[in-house]
Amino acid sequence: MTKIDIGEELEYIEKVNKINIGKNLKYNILTMGCQLNENDSEKICGMVEKMGYTKTDDISLADLVIYNTCCVRENAEEKLFGKLGEVKKLKEAKGTIIAIGGCMMQEKHIVEKIKKSYKYDVIFGTHTLHKFPKDLYNAIMENKKITDILDIDGEIIEGLPIKRDDNIRASVTIMNGCNNFCTYCIVPYVRGRERSRNPEDILAEIESLSKSGYKEITLLGQNVNSYMRVEREKGLTESKIDSFAKLLRAVNEIEGIEKIRFTSPHPKDFTDDVIDAIRDLDKVSKLVHLPLQSGSTDILKAMNRVYTKEQYLNLVQKMQDKIPGVKFSTDIIVGFPGETEEDFEDTLEVVRKVKFEQIFMFIYSRRIGTPADKMKNQVPEEIKHKRFDRLKKLYEEIIAENNKEYIGTVQNILVEGYSKTNSEFLTARTDTNKVVIFKGNRELIGKFIQVKIVSEHMWYLKGEII
Ligand code: SAH
Ligand code: SF4
Ligand code: F3S
Repeated sequence: MTKIDIGEELEYIEKVNKINIGKNLKYNILTMGCQLNENDSEKICGMVEKMGYTKTDDISLADLVIYNTCCVRENAEEKLFGKLGEVKKLKEAKGTIIAIGGCMMQEKHIVEKIKKSYKYDVIFGTHTLHKFPKDLYNAIMENKKITDILDIDGEIIEGLPIKRDDNIRASVTIMNGCNNFCTYCIVPYVRGRERSRNPEDILAEIESLSKSGYKEITLLGQNVNSYMRVEREKGLTESKIDSFAKLLRAVNEIEGIEKIRFTSPHPKDFTDDVIDAIRDLDKVSKLVHLPLQSGSTDILKAMNRVYTKEQYLNLVQKMQDKIPGVKFSTDIIVGFPGETEEDFEDTLEVVRKVKFEQIFMFIYSRRIGTPADKMKNQVPEEIKHKRFDRLKKLYEEIIAENNKEYIGTVQNILVEGYSKTNSEFLTARTDTNKVVIFKGNRELIGKFIQVKIVSEHMWYLKGEII
């Protein structure tokens, strides 16, 4: 894919740093979206720290406040307006610079609302992340508001500095955008068309992470298992690594990396080569995220998910036959327009059959500009909430059931650090992403160890080192 030259933009990092030098300035960032949004925030932090700001969790101390926004559901949007209301006082008191970026800024009506009713200095979007230093420089030097949004597609940005949140586990974005246009979803409109990073750049990044001591990598994208598909179809790649399966195999070769996860894949792109790669590769997690969205074939059709209930269940069966120990996690939307009681029962039935390890459950949220928002048969809020509660109850029953299977097993787990809720315990996650807490000393952090599971507590397991 075409990489754009960002040399000129990066020069502004040094220019802002020169203005800031010796001022001991602080920044505060709020990340409101998914893992891709978090990975973008790590790049924003990388740039901002090179511009002379140090991070603070106390917003009242901040000279620069950054909101990295999400618009996938209405509550994500409402949260921003609440925050902008609060930060206004800070700006009035001490001239704090307010920068707003991310997916929500790709929506015209939102940017207009902010311009009309809220205080800000810089607005940037998903295609202008790399221009943030230049925009900030202009906002400071010219003391004016900057809005820098682009609607471009098909470009890849390499070479931004990055400040990661963790030093054992790292996320690596392998592709951007989405071509699927599920009828409920805003993402294709705010993230643009699917485009993949060159494998050489991805592998170089992971190799350097391994050299710095990282042990676990999560490959990120809106549709990771269609990695390089567009490029392959258009004849835009000469690389031998021109599919997701091949990328997984190449990452598995990197010494020092011991665990590989990926999210999100789409059921339609689980071709045999991908399934075989998951089976063959020792480092690849056997927890497969398989977004269901709905268990009803009619609703799936209205959602433009391009698979039926039966096809989904067949895929699960095929993976269970091929990959020993495979488990599944999923995303489910409750209350999509036209969802009847029977449709919802289909969803419950699939949940019972697959016994997911993890379910991310969402109440359908109308998104302006998407086809589903224009559908006449919207489900009343009350019914949506009741169905959500029923799904949640079933989920909890299944978790309790699944958890029992862990008791007495020995798990090989990567120690992540001290538990946030109880500092007496260390915390880690099983291959299937279950949190395990256990007693042990700090030398174990960053290492894989064997832990025997002794009890289950719904959202976590307790273990003992053996
Ligand atoms: N590309 C990923 C993630 C997309 S956003 C994927 O396809 O899996 C994460 C999840 O948010 C989606 O899987 C979906 O379950 C949910 N979601 C997206 N749009 C939504 C909407 N309008 N209302 C409720 N949930 C939504
Ligand atoms: Fe949205 Fe569907 Fe693309 Fe996922 S695959 S980002 S749900 S349009
Ligand atoms: Fe939200 Fe954008 Fe991610 S809309 S879910 S932050 S891609």
